[in-house]
Amino acid sequence: MENTVVVGAQFGDEGKAKITDLLAARADVVIRYQGGSNAGHTVVHNGIKYKFHLIPSGILYEDKICFLGAGVVIKPDDFEKELNELIEQGVSKEHFKSALKIHPLAHVTMPWHTEIDGYSENALGKNKIGTTKKGIGPTYTDKYARSGIRVEDLFNEKTLSIKLDAILPLKNKMLANVYGLKEYSKDKVLSICKGYREIFAPYVCFEWQKILDEAKRNKTILFEGAQGVLLDIDYGTYPYVTSSNPVAGGAGVGASVGPLAIKEVVGVFKAYITRVGEGPFVTELTDEVGRKIQEIGAEFGVTTGRARRCGWFDGVIAKYSVLVGGISSIALTKLDVFDTFDEIKLCTKYKNVKTGEVTEFYPTNVYTHCDYEPVYETFKGWKADTTEVKSFDELPENAKIYLKRLEEVCGAPIKIVSTGPDRNQTIFV
Ligand code: GDP
Ligand code: IMO
Ligand code: MG
Repeated sequence: MENTVVVGAQFGDEGKAKITDLLAARADVVIRYQGGSNAGHTVVHNGIKYKFHLIPSGILYEDKICFLGAGVVIKPDDFEKELNELIEQGVSKEHFKSALKIHPLAHVTMPWHTEIDGYSENALGKNKIGTTKKGIGPTYTDKYARSGIRVEDLFNEKTLSIKLDAILPLKNKMLANVYGLKEYSKDKVLSICKGYREIFAPYVCFEWQKILDEAKRNKTILFEGAQGVLLDIDYGTYPYVTSSNPVAGGAGVGASVGPLAIKEVVGVFKAYITRVGEGPFVTELTDEVGRKIQEIGAEFGVTTGRARRCGWFDGVIAKYSVLVGGISSIALTKLDVFDTFDEIKLCTKYKNVKTGEVTEFYPTNVYTHCDYEPVYETFKGWKADTTEVKSFDELPENAKIYLKRLEEVCGAPIKIVSTGPDRNQTIFV
C-alpha cells in the first residue's frame, strides 16, 4: 500500500475507524491529523468493541507506531480516560508505551476551553451548533489567536511561565467579563499543567522529526482523519461545522509531512447519510424510513450518545466531497443496513423549489438549503443477507446496480464495500 489518507466524506461517523483499522494492517505508521476527543471511533475485532476518541484506530496492532499528530487538540483527562478504558479491555500499558506517540506541537485543551464551549452553546440558544462540548472550537480559536498551550510547553517550566504571563491576564478578563466564568490564578494553572505533564510524559515524542523522516523515506504511513468533509471548517456546512480540516489537505499539515507524501485518499461514505448535532440536511428522513435506518444501523453517537439524524445517500454532497476532500477512491460502509429494504433512494441532484433550478453542484450557502429538495432515483432492494459476502461478484444484482450508480454520481471508484462492523465483513473490489 502507498501512503494513504482516510477521510470521512459526509458528516462524520461513516465508519472511518473500521477502514483505518483494516488498512493499518498494511501500514507501519498511523497518524491522526486533526480533531480531538469530539471524535468517536468504533473498531470491532474478534467480537470485542473498542471505542477510540483520540488514540489512532491502528493501535490494536502489535507492530505499528501510532501518532497523535501536530494538528490534533488533546484534552488530557479524556486522553487518560480513553487509555484506561482500553487497558481495562486488555490492551497492555507496555504496548501503549512503545506504540503511542504524542506530537509535542499538538495543542492542549485547557479547562477554560471546555467551559467556554458549554457557555457558548447555551448562549446561542436555538442557534446552537450542537457541539460535543469537548472544548474543540475554543482550543482551535486560541491556537489561531496565538494564545494556545502546546504539549511541549508543559515540559518546559520557563516557557510555560512566560506563556501564562502573556495569556492569562486577557483570558481571565474574557472569562470573567464576557462569559461570567471563574478566573484562573497562575498557580492553579501551573498545578493543572503539572498533572497534564504526568499524563503525557510516557507518550510525548520529542524525536518526532527523526521518526517521521524515516517513515517518509522507508515506511508506509496511514493518515487517519476524524469528522468529515461536510464538518470541515472551510468546506463544511459553516457555521455548523467543527473547527479543523478533516479534508485530505489537512493531513499534510496536521501530520507534519506535506502533501507530496500522500498517494491515495480513501473517502469513507455510508450507504446512506447521518448527522449528529444541528445544521442543514437536505436528504434527512424524519419518517418511518429514517427511524428504520437509525434502528438497523444503530445510529447513536459514540461520544455523546445522541441519536444520529438519518437520510438517503446524498450524491450532491458526495460529488462535492470527492472534489474538495481530495478523494481518489471510495470505501462504502453499512451496505448491509439496506438488506431488508424494498426500495432504496439515491439523491443525484437538488431542485430549488423557489426558482425551479436543478443542480448537481453543492450550494455552499447553508441558509439556502431549506429552499432545496432532493431529486431521487429509486432502486429495487436486494432483500438478501450481504454480511457474509466476500467478493463484489457475489453481491446481489440489485446491490451491484445501486453501487454502480452511486460510484458514477460520486465520480470516484468504489474500492472497498463494508457489510458489517467486523474486519472480515469487507469486500475489496
Ligand atoms: P467513525 O466515527 O467514522 O469511525 O464511525 P463510528 O464508529 O462513529 O460509527 C460507525 C459505526 O458503524 C460503528 O458502530 C461501526 O462498528 C459500525 N460499522 C462500520 N462499518 C459497518 C458496516 O459495514 N455495517 C454495519 N452494520 N456497521 C458498521
Ligand atoms: P467522528 O470522528 C459526528 C459534530 C458535532 C457538531 C459539530 C461541531 O466520530 O466522525 P465540535 O464538538 O467538533 O465543535 O462539534 O461537529 N461532530 C461530529 N459528528 N462525528 C464526529 O466525529 C464529530 N465530531 C464533531 O456533533 O455538530
Ligand atoms: Mg464517530
